[in-house]
Amino acid sequence: MLKIPGLIDPHVHIREPGATHKEDWDTATAAALAGGITMLLAMPNTNPAIFDASTLELALAAAKAKAHCDYAQFIGAGPGNAEVAAQLAPRAAGLKMYLDSTFGELRLDDMSLWKPHFEKYPKNLPLVVHSESRSMAAAILFAAIYDRPVHIAHISLKEEVLLIKAAKEHGLKVTCEVCPQHLFLTKDDIPSFSGGHPGRGEVRPRLGSKEDVDALWANLDVIDCFASDHAPHTLEEKDSDEPPPGFPGVETTLALLLTAVHEARLTIDQIIEKMHTNPKRIFRLPEQPETWVEVDEQATYEIHAVDMQSRCGWTPFEGRQVKGRVTRVVLRGKDVFKDGKLLVEKGFGRNVR
Ligand code: DOR
Ligand code: ZN
Repeated sequence: MLKIPGLIDPHVHIREPGATHKEDWDTATAAALAGGITMLLAMPNTNPAIFDASTLELALAAAKAKAHCDYAQFIGAGPGNAEVAAQLAPRAAGLKMYLDSTFGELRLDDMSLWKPHFEKYPKNLPLVVHSESRSMAAAILFAAIYDRPVHIAHISLKEEVLLIKAAKEHGLKVTCEVCPQHLFLTKDDIPSFSGGHPGRGEVRPRLGSKEDVDALWANLDVIDCFASDHAPHTLEEKDSDEPPPGFPGVETTLALLLTAVHEARLTIDQIIEKMHTNPKRIFRLPEQPETWVEVDEQATYEIHAVDMQSRCGWTPFEGRQVKGRVTRVVLRGKDVFKDGKLLVEKGFGRNVR
């Protein structure tokens, strides 16, 4: 038995308010605990999007009533809310800026809309940017000009990890995360896991090439965090004519990483660093007292969506064999998950802001 600290996932899409048929605060946080995640940061691209005091209240009320694990909620950067977002900062996980197109309405196309957010949001917290390729380079330039931290969400390309490496060497305040799909899948895997439904391969950022995946593994020291970007959509939606992008992941991230440890591609210490120590530091998150995760490192099993807590009903890792199972999760002194069973009521989770 291996005992590790409670893990933090800084990138989870909960879908409440607005799309609880995909997931809600109950099922998402139950899934998190099953995956060894005791604290998560929720993304703001809900419906309505979380961008001011009343929408933040909406999300936090649902979270308070339903969350099983601890959490904080991001605010989304819009064209006119820089002032309000900065005022709400003490109550938020941070500010999320969508600089490229993805699921939902939140998107800042024009770089002149970025400026007030880079200027006004408190500099003790990073701005989290969805920025791919050249817009990532632009976001790093903004971080340099306004002398503030940025956290680059879900990097997926060789050119991205190499630029972040150079930016860090230059002393810029840049951190980044990578998701399991960009470490364990390439675009060539889509036909085999999508079963003739190409929509199941849709995710933003898109899956990379083998060269991209190899570059991420070769530069793990540049990567600050592992984040799931848990983005549940139902199978019916994924298999429709307009499939929304996104993969579920909060329940499978740790098992995939533990399997990589078993294969000597990664160490347990790197998992703890990138899923506990670094996210805690980067997002200034509090310690969770008497909180830990127990893992049976030798347990071998197959990933199946039917065994999962998530409501979305599918996973791109269906049938994959992994080694390393979460057997017990203790959160603030309470057994919250044990031997495949959720043991905690809705509402036990606390807002860490
Ligand atoms: O694939 C994605 N899905 N990428 C994102 O950035 C958003 C997410 C979602 O909310 O579904
Ligand atoms: Zn996301």
